[in-house]
Amino acid sequence: MKSGVTPTSVERSLGDDDFIVTKTDAKGRILYANRIFIALSGFTEAELIGSQHNIIRHPDMPRSVFKLLWEHIAAGQEFMGYVKNMAKDGSFYWVLATVTPDRDAQRNIIGYTSVRRKPRTDAIKVAAALYRDMLVTESRAGARDAIDAGSAVLNQALNGKSYEQFVLAL
Ligand SMILES: Cc1cc2nc3c(=O)[nH]c(=O)nc-3n(C[C@H](O)[C@H](O)[C@H](O)COP(=O)(O)O)c2cc1C
Repeated sequence: MKSGVTPTSVERSLGDDDFIVTKTDAKGRILYANRIFIALSGFTEAELIGSQHNIIRHPDMPRSVFKLLWEHIAAGQEFMGYVKNMAKDGSFYWVLATVTPDRDAQRNIIGYTSVRRKPRTDAIKVAAALYRDMLVTESRAGARDAIDAGSAVLNQALNGKSYEQFVLAL
């Protein structure tokens, strides 16, 4: 948890037609947030712009999921995944995020865009159970080995599928 916010059990939910959009620079600092993101996060636009995107990181999220995200997008690939986020008041909300690289005319990656929508409730249940297992394993492994240990749990659960195939199949 980066923000000093204490997580609560209050869940916020996106509307069926809501799209949450943010854009970051190449280091993950927020450059743009749409109205729905601002409203749901509980932060002001001024608090968000220039902040690292981990400002809404929820402590229930395994580190190995973000490693996978950054591996994909820094290599120029799209990433799709379930993310539990935390608002400024400690409440949480699940999203299905699609993160893509933004490029300049020379094809250099200059930042990233994330578009998120409301996941189905049954998909949230599956993702939450998997992330819980990953998080427990990461905590037991200790900081240095956490990501390897969490990734091993994920790979076992994927059973030969890619994470993206798993996400799309949920
Ligand atoms: C475009 C973009 C969107 C992101 N959206 C989120 C998000 O909604 N929630 C989140 O926790 N991390 C998000 N991240 C990942 C964060 O940059 C960061 O890796 C993550 O919160 C883990 O932070 P930590 O490594 O400091 O613990 C996003 C990154 C990018 C580039």
